Amino acid sequence: MGGTHRRGPCGPRPPARNPVASPPYRRRSLCGLRTCRRIGRPPLYYRNNVGGTIKLLEATRECGVRHIVFSSSCAVYGVPRSVPIAEASPLDPISPYGASKMMCERLLRDWNDAFALNWMALRYFNATGADPEGEIGECHVPETHAIPLILEAAREGKPFTIFGDDYPTSDRSCVRDYTHVSDLADAHVSKLLEGTESVAVNIGTGRGSSVRELIDIAKQVTGRDIPVRIGQRRTGDPPTLVSDPGRARTLLGWSPRYPNLAQQISHAWAWYQDGLHSFRRFQKAHPDLVSLGLHD
Ligand SMILES: NC(=O)c1ccc[n+]([C@@H]2O[C@H](COP(=O)([O-])OP(=O)(O)OC[C@H]3O[C@@H](n4cnc5c(N)ncnc54)[C@H](O)[C@@H]3O)[C@@H](O)[C@H]2O)c1
Repeated sequence: MGGTHRRGPCGPRPPARNPVASPPYRRRSLCGLRTCRRIGRPPLYYRNNVGGTIKLLEATRECGVRHIVFSSSCAVYGVPRSVPIAEASPLDPISPYGASKMMCERLLRDWNDAFALNWMALRYFNATGADPEGEIGECHVPETHAIPLILEAAREGKPFTIFGDDYPTSDRSCVRDYTHVSDLADAHVSKLLEGTESVAVNIGTGRGSSVRELIDIAKQVTGRDIPVRIGQRRTGDPPTLVSDPGRARTLLGWSPRYPNLAQQISHAWAWYQDGLHSFRRFQKAHPDLVSLGLHD
């Protein structure tokens, strides 16, 4: 996963000496590029995600890397024609972010044809939760993810905005497949370590939850009220994204340990109340040691 899952009281991990050349990465490399999911500033996303991936692929070739795991996204599907979404569904992204991920997958295919680079694109559905021990959780600046914002509303009383309440879903808010970050991490170390065919694999629970459901469950988990306001739809938000996780099960032997949304939110709440605030204190005291990457 990317660097936005932060260590709490202990601060961030020290930087790796040379992430490509260090022994564990010589055969496989995790590719998690900072991404901005909104529609604005396409050059930034293409330069970072597509341009960065080309540079990474060139570097991995020079270093003799034979296998690569790419952090792809369900955003490659755009508005799916049917749900749950299988990997064979048409790729038709509706945001520069999704398009950049699709292009990166294409690069991997071409590198495979030309240089026999073995690859796996893990198409994550919505990452959520936090490390169950409470040491690592998410911290985005600015925060744009639904669950952290809902928890901020629970803690600080600042209203949470539901973007659009006119979607064709049961309660008219968007439906997503929320997948625990520890389960996403597990997917990277399952059968991948044995080497597999070059292929894209959905990593999701196969269950959809609406934004309103998130709010209701967060109220139960936190025992607090969550003020809500209704905003405009965001461009680039499909109504429903839910995975068909069959390939992950059969190919990787992967299934989620934490598919329950209440459990995911309670891990995130524990991090939000403790680790995140320790991390922010550390960040304030040592701004030179903590980089938050690119922002839009
Ligand atoms: N969070 C999700 O729900 C989700 C869903 C689908 C896919 N993904 C993908 O998973 C990966 C990690 O997700 P995240 O939410 O933590 O992403 P993020 O975009 O918030 O963070 C990615 C990390 O990559 C770093 N980074 C960005 N550009 C870089 C570059 N050129 N060189 C080196 N490092 C760079 C950033 O500093 C950041 O630490 C991303 O590739 C993202 O697209 C995430």
